[in-house]
Amino acid sequence: MTEPTGATTIPVGDDYDVVIGSGVLDRVGDLLGGDVERVLVVHPPTLPELTARVSTALEARGYAVHVAEVPDAEGAKTGAVAAELWGRLGRAGFTRTDSVVGVGGGTVTDLAGFVAASWLRGVRVVQVPTTLLGMVDAAVGGKTGINTTEGKNLVGAFHPPSGVLCDVDVLATLPRDDLVAGLAEVVKCGFIADPVILDLIESAVADDVDRARSAANPHLRELIERAVRVKAEVVAADLRESSLREILNYGHTFGHAIEQVEHYTWRHGEAVSVGMVYVAELARLTGHLTGPEGDALVSRHRSVLESLGLPTAYAGGRWDELLTAMRRDKKSRGSTLRFVVLDALASPTRLAGPDDTLLQAAYGLVSRRSGVPPH
Ligand SMILES: NC(=O)c1ccc[n+]([C@@H]2O[C@H](COP(=O)([O-])OP(=O)(O)OC[C@H]3O[C@@H](n4cnc5c(N)ncnc54)[C@H](O)[C@@H]3O)[C@@H](O)[C@H]2O)c1
Repeated sequence: MTEPTGATTIPVGDDYDVVIGSGVLDRVGDLLGGDVERVLVVHPPTLPELTARVSTALEARGYAVHVAEVPDAEGAKTGAVAAELWGRLGRAGFTRTDSVVGVGGGTVTDLAGFVAASWLRGVRVVQVPTTLLGMVDAAVGGKTGINTTEGKNLVGAFHPPSGVLCDVDVLATLPRDDLVAGLAEVVKCGFIADPVILDLIESAVADDVDRARSAANPHLRELIERAVRVKAEVVAADLRESSLREILNYGHTFGHAIEQVEHYTWRHGEAVSVGMVYVAELARLTGHLTGPEGDALVSRHRSVLESLGLPTAYAGGRWDELLTAMRRDKKSRGSTLRFVVLDALASPTRLAGPDDTLLQAAYGLVSRRSGVPPH
């Protein structure tokens, strides 16, 4: 639904709305609702101006605003930082009807959501994602969490936000590589559910990603709205990842393995990009994608992702490490490896326990000769 103000509101079931627009940051107070008196604004050190705008808008609405700067990127998602924030909430007397607001990328929204989920067994959180990945993925859906020394996202909770506010203008300062990595999740939504996303990228975005980043460009906003709609529909039907939500993991099993093997030096979206080509090849090898149409769909994975500058191949000679990492992945059930594959465009299905020789053959089709850099 497009409002008279030009913002678009996408409901996530009956639970909450995602508001997407240009210049909408000052409306953050509209999403708090209820009897909120105190608000803790959590933000990274990189966004002082955006944080000040959010805080000022909240103060103007009469809220008692407390501001907490946390370390940047994954440095925010630790038990020590969460404990520090619990201390802030305790000292400021936050009650069950108060709220947390997360302003930042997926790391901040994951942390802010987790702190809100655990304070007094759950208080409101409003998410203000400032990266493309945050807008189309991390801030929508209610998965929150922090890392431990043993691994990423091992501690967390399902805690849907009270609202999500995406101001596309803030993306103008996002580093280009972060924008491109976020586009990988947008492309994923195109393959699993909304092919118009792919058409739009092929016709209007791929030729000039820098222009696409400009807030004045309507295509980026449409891509965000379409990707959020896909995620909203899936999570509204399945909050806890029991079945339908699994389709959002398209490309993620192999992608997570790359992230692990590379010790998280690859951006998530870059790893998922290769992961999507891997499962497209796996779908062909296992008979899910067949004939010239199947071949064309596999090629389209490579062409769309490469047109955005995303990687579609990985170094050769690392199969054993990748397979070990995939088996460890928490998305596999027991010892059976599970993948989401396509039967056709926008027709995802599950593939459980494919033959090891096919898994390795798919790797052969996405691996580069050793010695050639992966990007
Ligand atoms: N909960 C979920 O469902 C879910 C889904 C996907 C990813 N995640 C999590 O999201 C995290 C990754 O999120 P991310 O890619 O947004 O990374 P991030 O939060 O580390 O942000 C990337 C960098 O961009 C900076 N930044 C943020 N907004 C900016 C802006 N507007 N202008 C300039 N710089 C800006 C940040 O300070 C940071 O340095 C991971 O921890 C991942 O586990 C969670």
